[in-house]
Amino acid sequence: MQNKILELKSAFAAALAEASGAAALENLRVEYLGKKGHIASLMSELRFAEDKKAAGQLINDFKTEVTEAIERAVEELRAAAIAEKVRSAKKYNPTLKMHEELGSYHPITLATREVEDIFISMGFTIENYDEIVDDYKCFEALNIPKHHPARDMQDTYYLDNGQLLKTHTSAAQNYIMKKYGAPLRAIFPGRCFRNESTDACHENTFFQMEGMMIDENISISNLIYFMKTMLSEVFQRDVKVRLRPGFFPFVEPGFELDINCEICGGEGCPSCKNSGWLELCPCGMIHPNVLREGGIDTEKYSGFAFGLGLTRLAMMKYGVKDIRDFNSGSLKALSQFKSI
Ligand code: DAH
Repeated sequence: MQNKILELKSAFAAALAEASGAAALENLRVEYLGKKGHIASLMSELRFAEDKKAAGQLINDFKTEVTEAIERAVEELRAAAIAEKVRSAKKYNPTLKMHEELGSYHPITLATREVEDIFISMGFTIENYDEIVDDYKCFEALNIPKHHPARDMQDTYYLDNGQLLKTHTSAAQNYIMKKYGAPLRAIFPGRCFRNESTDACHENTFFQMEGMMIDENISISNLIYFMKTMLSEVFQRDVKVRLRPGFFPFVEPGFELDINCEICGGEGCPSCKNSGWLELCPCGMIHPNVLREGGIDTEKYSGFAFGLGLTRLAMMKYGVKDIRDFNSGSLKALSQFKSI
């Protein structure tokens, strides 16, 4: 019996060395450990053995040996398969060309940054402000009490909690004055909303950039100087502008600053409502009520404010004929700004 076991042992070792692949190993397992395998038949022969105990021990040891050897071989096979997978996997190749379709900045972003840079160079700080504000900030603090007719021009979207989407960047004036006090120079660009029907030059969502300068002895001359400097920097040439009186409850006196329509050259087109002029930057001397509401000493300080139409500026600067293109998400329209 012992000889037979020894013979089987060496036969198994030889067969294991030969076995390549999972199927061969499984066959070997069945051949030795299966119901009708060598180990099972050794067990059934055990009762004829002379030294049952020692032979039984040998068979058990052999069984363990075979089981472990096959398990080891299967495990090695699996590890080799994983290593092969890793080896043959596609490698990152740093010399391959990158995807070239990069995005681009939105024209409003480009215009905003350009104007910001100009005002930074003139000593202004840039402020961010909320898009959702309360009635006080948007209207009352700006000398527009409830039921004032000026509110008719600025219908907007109201939230259930009484707050609203700001109709103009002027809504941040009160906050800025309370934050910095006087003297101050600040610009605050932002998205504005109006509940109105859209056409080539009106959108329900658009961008403005508000600016304020408060100091001792600020006059209309300062206002005109800053507006002219800003516009000639933006357009990199002298642009035709006109200043005419305009009414806004938060400034006194108030002006409309129009620029010659860059799209039609002043001839008249849908973008300028056929007038040849575009209202670009209403402005004025800040009303004392507004200054006082912001905690500014009106005996000592005065200031000017302006509300630059950033969306309109981008239209003029880049020759965009229809304001609705800005919010359309059209890649065809936006991709033209890639190289800028
Ligand atoms: N907030 C006004 C609007 O959107 C524009 C405006 C007018 C802003 C005069 C100003 C200003 O700062 O002085 O209609």
